[in-house]
Amino acid sequence: MVKLSDINENNYEACSGLMCTQEQCEFTNSPVWSLLQAAYASFKDKSKLYCISDDNRVVGMIRLDFSVYDDYYMFTNLIIDKSYQCKGIATQAVRLALDIFREEKKFEVVRIHVAMKNTHAIHLYKKVGFVSTNKFSEKGLLIMEYSL
Ligand SMILES: CC(C)(COP(=O)(O)OP(=O)(O)OC[C@H]1O[C@@H](n2cnc3c(N)ncnc32)[C@H](O)[C@@H]1OP(=O)(O)O)[C@@H](O)C(=O)NCCC(=O)NCCS
Repeated sequence: MVKLSDINENNYEACSGLMCTQEQCEFTNSPVWSLLQAAYASFKDKSKLYCISDDNRVVGMIRLDFSVYDDYYMFTNLIIDKSYQCKGIATQAVRLALDIFREEKKFEVVRIHVAMKNTHAIHLYKKVGFVSTNKFSEKGLLIMEYSL
């Protein structure tokens, strides 16, 4: 069963070792960078990094931004370790992330930024219900939205 749980002393080392393929590295931040970023005060209470596990094995991470932006939620830094990709885990993890946002009841929209050439990620986001806004971030990433 896929679960999202807090990063703690039992799983942070496994999280730091998560790897995507060489070609995928440009699509997300490194897990070590995500861990460092989450540890710093500027993000405290605004966003939270979750460990993605499947049957108690650490398989990925995802960061949920609760109040970094004024009128929408966002998730970022999604990674599934290359040994566990293409098993539907990211699909389940994104659905769980949407459930967490839904329970917050603060905003009605979730946004993500994705590279146009990250076709697998775009396919996955469309499958769970995200739509393209046809707008791009400052970094040239496609902005997709989901209505909670
Ligand atoms: C994008 C990523 C998170 C997908 O994780 P995943 O667990 O493999 O995704 P899923 O198994 O849930 O797959 C979702 C869909 O995408 C397809 N897909 C995902 N990766 C694929 C691949 N490498 N080749 C072919 N299809 C792929 C699956 O077939 C599935 O489609 P389907 O349900 O219609 O069959 C993972 O490849 C990854 O960590 N990439 C590097 C980091 C990254 O790009 N993060 C996203 C930044 S926006």
